[in-house]
Amino acid sequence: MAVPLLDLRAQFDAIRDEVIPSLLAVVERQQFIMGDEVGRLEQAVAALCHARHGIACASGTDALWLSLKVLDLRPGDEVVTSPFTFFATAGAIWNAGGTPVFVDIDPATFNLDPEPVEAALTSRTRAIVPVHLYGQMAPMDRLLALAEGHGLAVIEDAAQAIGARRRVGGAWRMAGELGTTGAFSFFPSKNLGAWGDGGMIVTQDAARAERLRKLRTHGGAKQYHHEEVGTNSRLDTLQAAVLLAKLPHLAAWSEGRRRRAARYDEALAGVDGVRAPMVDPENEPIYHQYTVRAQRRDALKAHLAKLGIGCAVYYPTPLHLQPCFHDLGYRQGQFPQAECAAREVLSLPVYPELSDPLQDQVVDAVRSFYA
Ligand SMILES: Cc1ncc(COP(=O)(O)O)c(C=O)c1O
Repeated sequence: MAVPLLDLRAQFDAIRDEVIPSLLAVVERQQFIMGDEVGRLEQAVAALCHARHGIACASGTDALWLSLKVLDLRPGDEVVTSPFTFFATAGAIWNAGGTPVFVDIDPATFNLDPEPVEAALTSRTRAIVPVHLYGQMAPMDRLLALAEGHGLAVIEDAAQAIGARRRVGGAWRMAGELGTTGAFSFFPSKNLGAWGDGGMIVTQDAARAERLRKLRTHGGAKQYHHEEVGTNSRLDTLQAAVLLAKLPHLAAWSEGRRRRAARYDEALAGVDGVRAPMVDPENEPIYHQYTVRAQRRDALKAHLAKLGIGCAVYYPTPLHLQPCFHDLGYRQGQFPQAECAAREVLSLPVYPELSDPLQDQVVDAVRSFYA
C-alpha cells in the first residue's frame, strides 16, 4: 500500500462533523470578512501561545512580513537569520526593506546557532529571525539574551511550530511567546492547517498589536481613514471557522506525531546510513516534519518513491545560494552545516493518523535500501 507523506483526507474524515457545521454557520450569516470567528481564533491562538495579542492575517509569509514592517527598517538595516529554511523567511526580510544576513546552523537541531549569530552582529543589525524548523524551537533563551544586549528585535518564524515549547529557566515557554512577535502559518499542510492560506502574529505588546491590526487593513483602524500605508492581509472568516474547529484537536495531534517520532527513533536506531533527528533536551517539539539525515539521500528518496512511500527534501538549496540573493555576495562553501543539511535531509511521513503497519512499511523500505 502507498504511504503518503501527509494524509489530510484522514484528518478530514475524523473531524467532518465538527468542521462542516461551523462552515455552514458562516455561510448562513454571509459574514465572510472579519466575522466573529476571526476574533475568537485570535484569542484562542494567543492563549495557546501564552501571548496577550493575536493578529490574524492572510498567510505565514504576511505574518513575518508585517512583523518586520513594524520595525521600520531603513536601507542597509540588517536582519540575521538562517539560510536553512523556507524561502519566505528571507523573502519577508527583503520585502520589509531589510538585508538578510545569513549565518550557519547548529547541525544537531538544524536551527540557528547563537555563536555565529553573535559574530554576525554589526551596528546595522536590527533584528534576529530564528526559525523553529520542523517544529523544534530554536534556543530562544540564548538568542534573546544576545538581542537584549544589542537592542534588537526578535521575530520568531514559528510557521512550523505551533504548540512547540522549550524549558527556559525551569518554565515551559511556547513558540511565539518570547519574541517581539511570533509568526505562524496555517498553510493546509501545517500541524494546524486551514483549507487555504492563513497566518497569525502573536505579541505581548499592545501598541505593536494595534499597529499590526491597522497594517493588515490598509493602515487604518477606521474605514477610509489611513494613518499609514498597509495592505489587505485579512484571514477569511471561513478559514477562521475551520481553524477554530481544528484547534481543540491540536494537542492530541502533536502527541500523536511525537509517538510516531519515538517509534521511528527506535526502529531506525540500528539502521546504518540514516540518523534520526536530534531533540535538544530543553525542547518539546511538535514534529511538523520527522527529518532524518541520510547517506546517499537522493538514491534513498528514489527507492522510497518506487515503493510508493511519500518523502520530501526540506530544503534542497540553502537561501544564501538562491539566485535572487546573488548580489548579497554569498558563495558556495560559506555555510558548510546548512549546505550539508541540504544534501542529507529527508522528511518521512509522521502525521498522527499514520497507522503502525503503514509506519512499519516506511521503516522496512528504509532498511531494505541500506541492507
Ligand atoms: C519556516 C516557514 N516560514 C514561513 C512560511 C510561510 O508561510 P505561508 O506558506 O503560510 O506563507 C512557511 C510555510 O511554508 C515556513 O515553513
